[in-house]
Amino acid sequence: MRIGILTGGGDCPGLNAVIRAVVRSAHLHGDEVVGFRDGWGGVIDGNCMELPIDRVAGILPRGGTILGTSRRSALEQPEIVRRRFAEQRLDGLIAIGGNGTLFAANELASDVPIVGVPKTIDNDLSGTDRTFGFDTAVHIAAEAIDRLHTTAESHYRNLIVEVMGRNAGWIALHAGLAGGADVILVPERPFDLDDVAARVLARRSRGRGFSIVVVAEGAAPQGGEIVTRGVNDQLGRPRLGGVGHWLESHLEERTGAETRAVVLGHVQRGGTPTAYDRVLASRLGQRAHLAVREGRFGTMTALRGSSIELAPLGDATARLNTVPEAELDLAEAFLG
Ligand code: F6P
Repeated sequence: MRIGILTGGGDCPGLNAVIRAVVRSAHLHGDEVVGFRDGWGGVIDGNCMELPIDRVAGILPRGGTILGTSRRSALEQPEIVRRRFAEQRLDGLIAIGGNGTLFAANELASDVPIVGVPKTIDNDLSGTDRTFGFDTAVHIAAEAIDRLHTTAESHYRNLIVEVMGRNAGWIALHAGLAGGADVILVPERPFDLDDVAARVLARRSRGRGFSIVVVAEGAAPQGGEIVTRGVNDQLGRPRLGGVGHWLESHLEERTGAETRAVVLGHVQRGGTPTAYDRVLASRLGQRAHLAVREGRFGTMTALRGSSIELAPLGDATARLNTVPEAELDLAEAFLG
């Protein structure tokens, strides 16, 4: 068999582990793999490279993706995708991506043989219990919070840590809980600035002279707007970021205590994946290759409990996997 593979959307620790697993599994079964560069862009432009087993040696611990990525969509020119299939004599395509990439994959899946692998550090795709990359992002953010804790404490400051999370607060919640944050603000629950200030002041009145506030980039004040950078990404979505600095001035004014914001940004997406993500990504990649061999097109690999299963491709983007209200309520016990 000859199998295409691409990585689309924002990069994510573990992408190379998936590519490596597909190539190793293919090698074992005598299949060939061709990698398209820069997500759907490489399919549209005909920009690809052969992926023999040697090409994936040493990439398991590397962040990013050896194929490059972009947010271009196959739906720009679907007929070219079909033509490229014939030109490359492909028997199937493995599309590794998040919302945008898998949405396009699902639209094409009625007449193009595609298997999806869900990825995003945000963990906001449904149909799978967890996406690879999330664990790494949480580790990085939790480590940053630990470091900020000691400096906040020494200077009696409020420290705001802005983490990624466009539509879902999974990173904020998990990193905040792991780092012992005092306030966690997520997109699922618009926040009340007075309430945030009251929590910080309540700590101070208990003799705790510092606070750690973790905020997801997509969190917004009640009745207010999400803070954006005034530009759109390739999918036409507003580029997020800035809520941390927005909070900085408001919280300083309301609490009278020095307040500093730190934006973790792409640090959360870069560098080596955790062992958990390497193993999860490898299992998903191997299953995707076997799914192509079995002709299970129109599916995606999914983590269910501790097993890797196949789910309908449309499940990934059918709804956003946001943090349930009950989980946010339970987290209250650890805050403040
Ligand atoms: O989808 C993952 C994500 O990290 C979001 O949390 C964030 O809004 C977005 O990607 C940023 O993407 P980019 O690097 O393209 O600006």
